[in-house]
Amino acid sequence: MTNHNSTKPIAVFDTGLGGLTVAAEIHRQLPHENLVFLADMARVPYASLSTTLIRRFSAECFDFLLGHDPKALVVACNTVSAVSLEETKERLTIPALGVIEPTAKAAFEATRNGRIGVIATNATVKRKAYDHSFEKLGAHIEVFSNGCPLLVPLVEEGWIEGEVPDKVVQHYLEPILAAGVDTLVLGCTHYEYFRPVLQRVMGEHVALINTPQVTAQELNRQLAERNELNHARSLGTIEIYSSDVNDTLERVAHDLFPDAWKDGRLSIHAAQIPPQTLLHALPHELQRN
Ligand code: DGL
Repeated sequence: MTNHNSTKPIAVFDTGLGGLTVAAEIHRQLPHENLVFLADMARVPYASLSTTLIRRFSAECFDFLLGHDPKALVVACNTVSAVSLEETKERLTIPALGVIEPTAKAAFEATRNGRIGVIATNATVKRKAYDHSFEKLGAHIEVFSNGCPLLVPLVEEGWIEGEVPDKVVQHYLEPILAAGVDTLVLGCTHYEYFRPVLQRVMGEHVALINTPQVTAQELNRQLAERNELNHARSLGTIEIYSSDVNDTLERVAHDLFPDAWKDGRLSIHAAQIPPQTLLHALPHELQRN
């Protein structure tokens, strides 16, 4: 029997362009699902912010997405998954899925020598998010982490190829390479855009875990378990919202969803974050007309 939630959209959040790689993989694995994606590009990166602000900003974004009445929320951001996923899960009645747990599980399954490299934002590294996830799995893993603060701004600038990004990537990978890991976690969804150079620098013998793929698989599993997969014949729509719409967003959306773009199933919108209602609380003289 069809569940009445099945036609509702899947909400996907990231602070910026990284999470679009997760949304694209969800669309590839579950092409009949409708997706609503939100990027908070006006305020990315979150990683350098305090825990209080990361919590507040992400809660504002979740409220926006929940306004679309989704059947599931995917937090396609490691930093926000590390900081506020647990409290978000507690306040929601729909499944909320982060990227860290599926990625850690896949890395644990992939490693042969028990030495795993994790590159991530400083916020994720500082919170030892992956170390804790491996512990939860009961896995004895030696984790070698490095914070890579310059990579998110490079992606947001659309600068993912050439001498400068290559040098930055090489610099961040040096200590991980020296540690002799056989598996690398791209612990920030923005780093997916650097996959070719990351693989080149690490060498073909190192397994790069594919966060979009394992996250989409886990989402698929959870929706199937709840009998909430969309069995519509038509292909799903992709609504992309951002607190700031710019050319890079349009180009990346075009590259990641070529068919949906061509068929007119993809749309890009500006999102008011925090929602307009909060602005009404401002004194009248501070409000725009
Ligand atoms: N894509 C986010 C992540 O996975 C970037 C975080 C940020 O905004 O600093 O961590």
